[in-house]
Amino acid sequence: MKKMWAGRTAGASAALADDFNSSIHIDSKMYRHDIKGSMAHAAMLSARGIISSADADAIIAGLEGILADIDSGKLEISPDAEDIHMFVEQILTERIGDAGKRLHTSRSRNDQVAVDTRLYMRDEVEGVKKLIFELLSAILEKAKEHAADIMPGYTHLQRAQPVTFGHHLLAYAEMFKRDIGRLDDASARMNECPLGALALAGTTYDIDRRMTAEALGFTRPTANSMDSVSDRDFCVELLSAFSLIMTHLSRFSEELILWSSWEFSFVELDDAYTTGSSIMPQKKNSDMAELVRGKTGRVYGDLMGTLTMLKGLPLAYNKDMQEDKEALFDGLETVKRCLEIFAPMIATMRVKPENMYKAAQRGFINATDLADYLTKRGTPFRAAYKTVGEIVAHCIKEGTVLDELPISEYKKFSEVFSDDLYSEISLETCVKKRISEGSTGPVSVQAQLNELEKFIKNKN
Ligand code: ARG
Repeated sequence: MKKMWAGRTAGASAALADDFNSSIHIDSKMYRHDIKGSMAHAAMLSARGIISSADADAIIAGLEGILADIDSGKLEISPDAEDIHMFVEQILTERIGDAGKRLHTSRSRNDQVAVDTRLYMRDEVEGVKKLIFELLSAILEKAKEHAADIMPGYTHLQRAQPVTFGHHLLAYAEMFKRDIGRLDDASARMNECPLGALALAGTTYDIDRRMTAEALGFTRPTANSMDSVSDRDFCVELLSAFSLIMTHLSRFSEELILWSSWEFSFVELDDAYTTGSSIMPQKKNSDMAELVRGKTGRVYGDLMGTLTMLKGLPLAYNKDMQEDKEALFDGLETVKRCLEIFAPMIATMRVKPENMYKAAQRGFINATDLADYLTKRGTPFRAAYKTVGEIVAHCIKEGTVLDELPISEYKKFSEVFSDDLYSEISLETCVKKRISEGSTGPVSVQAQLNELEKFIKNKN
């Protein structure tokens, strides 16, 4: 195929090589941003007298037409084009003639692709944030509903101390709030305009980089032309933020899967988000949660692939960098699909507080509170810890629990014990007495709910 860049090379490239070299299958997604970038560039060229205003008008009108035609489906993006930049320029030239050939004055595909990707991701990050907010809203509702429902809190997957289900859910809300913060941080750093860096060294034309930066909504132009076309930090940062979102979704998934098992039976996912088995009629599988957990590895792969692609590259642009979008867009689409399914899955999940409570009654999860009982009555904590350990061992041997061991037995371990110990170690008391900031106690959980509500309300 005859290339726009034919000149230095005369021989036609092999069809296989054309196909290998092409990135249109992935960067066609950025057509809108490519066109917007070109419009800003053309307007700047004309403002600086580098092209005539008649040419700029023709270019901008031509680009508007192309955008409308792609949007409406009238113009199909050709899979034979090398990339979206070449495609748009070629159609423009076909439509408006010589003026179209002037668009690429004082520009390179190297700064062009760097601008397009940033513009595209700026919009997409807003979409991801919106999905996280939807998930946060679903978490908020469930957490409100179950703010006081007691369940065992675990460490090492061993029953540890009583917590409320609301508190447990709100832990995930904190993670997703930080994820939004990370996306904001990455977006702010990404928001510098590389346009005007050209291939690597800048240009001999008297361009106005501030004008294009401002027109495209960037904070400022990038400072170094070589960095501008070589930097893919923003891809890594975004993929890293996506990876952490996936980590959080994956841990949440793991819990949903466990909680849905017969062994736990703390929740039941709605039929809409589960599947049956082709052979075992009794099965209800948490496939969606499992898929989210599975897809997490894929997003980590996108991050690792991008880091590895970059690590050996000399400055400035190298074609290796075309691979950035495969990974970035895959990570983006994966995280979006997972978030999309997660919010309604949480919203429709049926919680079984009675089973949680039953589980909390076994496993000696009030042992810390029993130790605190002694400590608050003068026994040093380490001594109290040892005494309670012995009482637990005794209960296990006798097949009983702390709440049911008679006071006469308690007295054998320590004279400090008296009848009030039973109310002090009830699950309700254990939770209510957690008064520290951020704890599972009702005041703290209410404060967390309020904060989350505020966070969601102030989203923009
Ligand atoms: N499709 C290319 C990419 O995504 C555009 C930049 C091409 N630049 C070049 N000098 N070949 O990286």
